[in-house]
Amino acid sequence: IKLIEAADYDEMSRQVAAIIIRQVKEKPDAVLGLATGSTVLGTYHELVADHRQNGTSYRRVRTVNLDEYVGLGPDHPNSYRYYMNHHLFGQLDIPIDQTHVPDGLAVDLDEECRRYERLIDELGGIDLQLLGIGRNGHIGFNEPGTPFSTATHVVELTELTREANARFFPSFDDVPRYAITMGIATILRSRRIVLLASGEEKAEAIARLLEGVVTPDLPASALHLHPDVTIIADREALALIP
Ligand code: F6R
Repeated sequence: IKLIEAADYDEMSRQVAAIIIRQVKEKPDAVLGLATGSTVLGTYHELVADHRQNGTSYRRVRTVNLDEYVGLGPDHPNSYRYYMNHHLFGQLDIPIDQTHVPDGLAVDLDEECRRYERLIDELGGIDLQLLGIGRNGHIGFNEPGTPFSTATHVVELTELTREANARFFPSFDDVPRYAITMGIATILRSRRIVLLASGEEKAEAIARLLEGVVTPDLPASALHLHPDVTIIADREALALIP
């Protein structure tokens, strides 16, 4: 794992955006694996600003998102599809049918998970996967205890994750209980992985990750099994590194 220290959130966002822009220039039809949440927002702002200023084009890019809440459709402001359309896709020149997010409204959720795995294969695999990290070390919605061998699957969210995400919902009870997520095996099949971490609330997870013990108790530790992982973290997220 390669570690890059950024001074603060904005510098982290600029560095991650630069990696994505380079990837898209090198391979204009790249497959980008994308995440939602707070940490990646600055990166998406940077990509949009660069697209407007420098004309970097996403016309041939394909994207696959990590996860989606079960029960929330594209028009629901808390769905990850809505987030992606709003913060990124709607502000770039990417055709929307080249963007993919698991369908949280699918009638047959297990079939939706299998379809999503097939889709990633048909796209030729993920060139560059962006990841955030949960305070408990989750990646995607793969919570502690998830076997590393899992493909895309339905998960029941932990209380901690639902609490962490409750800030986006009217109340805790409105946070969905289930989600569809790429599995750890799906994530590890990406050719390259970039994990972002910002803020002191991520410091413990990053310190545990960098200790190097590989265990399902810390889902992100699976990244030690991958040959091309970069962590870009700000000083606060690295505060507990000896
Ligand atoms: C989001 C995702 C999650 C987040 C993680 C960090 O698609 O898969 O694993 O990356 O929960 O979230 P933030 O960035 O909001 O702290």
